[in-house]
Amino acid sequence: MANDKQKAYWSEVAGPKWLSLEGAMEARLAPISTAVIAAAALQPGERVLDIGCGAGRTSQEAAQAAGETGYVLGIDIAAPMIEAARAHAGGPKPGIAPLEFALADAQTAHFTPPFDVLISRFGIMFFDDPVAAFANLRASVKPGGRLAFAAWAPLAANPHWQIPLQLVAALTGPGNPGKPHAPGPLAFDDATYVRSLFEAAGWQNIEIRAQTVLLHGASLDDEARIACFMGPAGALLDEKKADAATREAARLAVRQALPGFATPLPDGSLHLPATIHLITASAG
Ligand SMILES: C[S@@+](CC[C@H](N)C(=O)[O-])C[C@H]1O[C@@H](n2cnc3c(N)ncnc32)[C@H](O)[C@@H]1O
Repeated sequence: MANDKQKAYWSEVAGPKWLSLEGAMEARLAPISTAVIAAAALQPGERVLDIGCGAGRTSQEAAQAAGETGYVLGIDIAAPMIEAARAHAGGPKPGIAPLEFALADAQTAHFTPPFDVLISRFGIMFFDDPVAAFANLRASVKPGGRLAFAAWAPLAANPHWQIPLQLVAALTGPGNPGKPHAPGPLAFDDATYVRSLFEAAGWQNIEIRAQTVLLHGASLDDEARIACFMGPAGALLDEKKADAATREAARLAVRQALPGFATPLPDGSLHLPATIHLITASAG
């Protein structure tokens, strides 16, 4: 079946790792939800679909923007993420759009009635067949419907990942390069390729903008831990089946390097410069 590998990965490996950080990823990525919601220009009363919603933080923000006459559905392929999203959202709240979550594969699921807007924070880079997925999603919006998605820009523009990856590779050796554009966090790092996918899926007025954002790290220690647990450096340590001593050496090396690319804030937290591709398009 489509996306079986990613479903298993997010349900059994990456999702549980993400959730074990107890909200740290959501806090770290909060500025990107803000950028997506702003690019989507959500209006009160709109029906919004959040793709690859994870633990649902961006869906919650969308529900605020859509107001009580709107509606938001968050979908994810991984059951643990949907369970967490439901638990975090709690019950209905006054002034906020009804918010629901469903276990679904965005590449194949059908949605009626159609949505006004599709949004996603990093939930759209994992499809086996991205053109099929974006064509399927185009069928789930009204005529004139639109989308606003965030994907990671190249590693070279994201030192919070590139530097830990280099430090880990110095300890473990380089990872398997894999196929170009294979499903994964960096699958959409090439804007020309991304444009070709949305064009082939029939979307119009496609814009792909590289936007710099400041991620929010809780502290130098937390960020060093996260950088060696999630993302490319964490994946390389897993690929190499690194032992505890190697993981600790990696964490210490990243902890030492962090002040070189993160800006400390007075409360001990950090700003980490990062770059995303902000993708917008309309269904025509
Ligand atoms: C990097 S996480 C982002 C989660 C969330 N959007 C956030 O920013 O907190 C990617 C999410 O996409 C989901 N995903 C991957 N493939 C999917 C698919 N085919 N359909 C729906 N969700 C998918 C994963 O299960 C995972 O929760």
